[in-house]
Amino acid sequence: MPQTHLPPVVTIDGPSGAGKGTVTRAVVRALGWHFLDSGALYRLTALYCHRQGVSPDDADQAAALAAVLPAAFRLEDGAERVLLDGSDVTAELRSEAIGALASRVAALEPVRGALLERQRDFRQAPGLVADGRDMGTVVFPEAPVKIFLTATVEERARRRYNQLKGEGADVSLASLTEEIAERDRRDASRTTAPLKPAPDAVHLDTTDVAAADVIEQVLAQVREKLE
Ligand code: DC
Repeated sequence: MPQTHLPPVVTIDGPSGAGKGTVTRAVVRALGWHFLDSGALYRLTALYCHRQGVSPDDADQAAALAAVLPAAFRLEDGAERVLLDGSDVTAELRSEAIGALASRVAALEPVRGALLERQRDFRQAPGLVADGRDMGTVVFPEAPVKIFLTATVEERARRRYNQLKGEGADVSLASLTEEIAERDRRDASRTTAPLKPAPDAVHLDTTDVAAADVIEQVLAQVREKLE
């Protein structure tokens, strides 16, 4: 049953490197709506487990920490800041080490359950743009606008390679391509919230498309469905 009294939600799901972050932030700016970076909640849970000495494979303890995550999201002079227990963890959250731990805690059903209501609380007027893997399937199944972004494994590896090179890292394109292909297989086959598009999602392939064009296509969907 559609909950029409609730503010509208645009869900943007897809694998890593498909361009979700760039597209979501641009859509948030264009609409002036709220933003949910659900991956950051899984990363925060991983970091909190690490700090509290809880194994990222201990479902019950990790879920207990996820349920009381002392996290806050701030916008300071246009820059996003994430706080955990009052300290700024924005840079740490993006590290490869935390990304790897996050993918383990994200596979735990109790953790996903513990974060469910917290994610839904981001739905505030005038609207929400939610970025993740299961935004359109599990968290906001009744969202009026659902987007599923994809790009080829090679293109996603190239984007990640350029980003890491830009940060001064010593990486190989071939091994990144293999890692991304392997992560795709894991994400699509895991039993808990596998990465799959909602049946009513609009698929946009970003491989050879400029970011500005993808953003315009998402905004066109919003106009079509919500005006
Ligand atoms: O998008 P990201 O790299 O920040 O996500 C971090 C991890 O959390 C990644 O392993 C995918 C997982 N994740 C998830 O399972 N469900 C979401 N809605 C968002 C992220």
